[in-house]
Amino acid sequence: MKQQKRITFNSKFGLVMASVGSAVGLGNIWRFPCEAGEHGGGAFLIVYVFCVMILGLSVMLAEFFLGRASQKDAVGTFKVLAPGTMWKITGYNGVLAAFLIFGFYSVVSGWTLEYIYQSATGNLNVSSVEEFTGNFEKFTADAFRPVVWIFIFTLITHIVVMSGVKKGIERTSKLMMPLLFVILIILCVRSLMLPNAIEGVKFFFKPDFSKITSDVVLSALGQAFFSVSVGMACMITYASYFNKSINMPNTAISVVTLDTLVAILAGVVIFPAVTSFNISPSQGPALVFITLPNIFQQMPFGNLWSLIFFVLLAIAALTSIISLHEVVTAYLHEQYKLSRNKATAIVSLCGFAVGVVCSLSFGVLSHFKIFGIIIFDLLDFVTANLMLPLGGMFICIFVGWFINKKVLKDELTNNGTIKFRLFCIFVVVIRYVAPIIIALICIKKLGLF
Ligand code: PFF
Repeated sequence: MKQQKRITFNSKFGLVMASVGSAVGLGNIWRFPCEAGEHGGGAFLIVYVFCVMILGLSVMLAEFFLGRASQKDAVGTFKVLAPGTMWKITGYNGVLAAFLIFGFYSVVSGWTLEYIYQSATGNLNVSSVEEFTGNFEKFTADAFRPVVWIFIFTLITHIVVMSGVKKGIERTSKLMMPLLFVILIILCVRSLMLPNAIEGVKFFFKPDFSKITSDVVLSALGQAFFSVSVGMACMITYASYFNKSINMPNTAISVVTLDTLVAILAGVVIFPAVTSFNISPSQGPALVFITLPNIFQQMPFGNLWSLIFFVLLAIAALTSIISLHEVVTAYLHEQYKLSRNKATAIVSLCGFAVGVVCSLSFGVLSHFKIFGIIIFDLLDFVTANLMLPLGGMFICIFVGWFINKKVLKDELTNNGTIKFRLFCIFVVVIRYVAPIIIALICIKKLGLF
């Protein structure tokens, strides 16, 4: 494989934290509990764990292979490994998905800053769920305030990405991720101490298999890919900064396990709190921004708990949005030979514009619907349910069928210096299991059978 001197992460800890930082995000703390709540709790959890541990892990490892073998951005990877072919479309799909996710992700990230501000200034002190709901809807529909928060969040992301892979991304992740774990554990303990917490734990862990439908499976798969940041070349880009001595199978297992742990711990924070205050767990997106602050307010030191929770959410969002930004920045920087500063600025400006449009889709643009849904929901649906699964499928097919098995094995075992006992199983999954399952689920979702 052609070698070039490429910037790499400084340490193993740093690269694991950066990858976990990308994986752990709003997907774990906001999206996962919503999905689990809407799709029957424990039943969803089982399907999810299967999807993430078998399919998510395999796609991640395939992406690690691509990134480190090529040492290139998402599109450059396919140009190097399959020159002159259409495979680079998979890279374009990844870059586009990252950009679109950046857009709607920055909106929710901005909301977390508003809630941090509200908790810190004691303004979350309202008395009823109706008032909370009204405030949330009024805020998200506002044409100005959410946009200011999107701007601030994008600016912070911009500064981190512009500072580079080591000084920006790695350093931020090394600081933020341990902090995130500490906050999460504190919140878990608090939640489990609430009266009647056990009901929430039961809802979350007790499976009701009658709830498993094809819709649940697709949601779980989309959520799994979204959560571990695969299918859209994010891990390709990060792995292009791995040095050649990194044990990639172990790294992938660590990232997926830590990501799943955070999702489960987030459920342990949220469901006991919800049942303890006698509220239905299947509330959708409102769960985190309406139900939880309302619950926190009913506890002693409510504002403090809200503050801690929304800081957690903001940290998770920041380290993920950095990785989305990096995918597009690396692409522009490497494919168009723009300076890193220029590439970063273009992504920040364009990402901000998409964020504003998504934000306005809750207010002045709410009547503008495509396929009957607002732009924010459309981007969420198209990326998580189509672009990521399809991206993941083509990445598996590419690595499974078009890469020489010896080249694949040599890269994943660092030229035979480390063991990868499950290599054969990995190949079977990326050749057959993952593409077939993903294709079936997508076809079913699109109503083609
Ligand atoms: N994994 C992130 C989350 O769970 O919130 C979202 C995400 C980040 C998806 C980066 C894709 C990505 F490339």
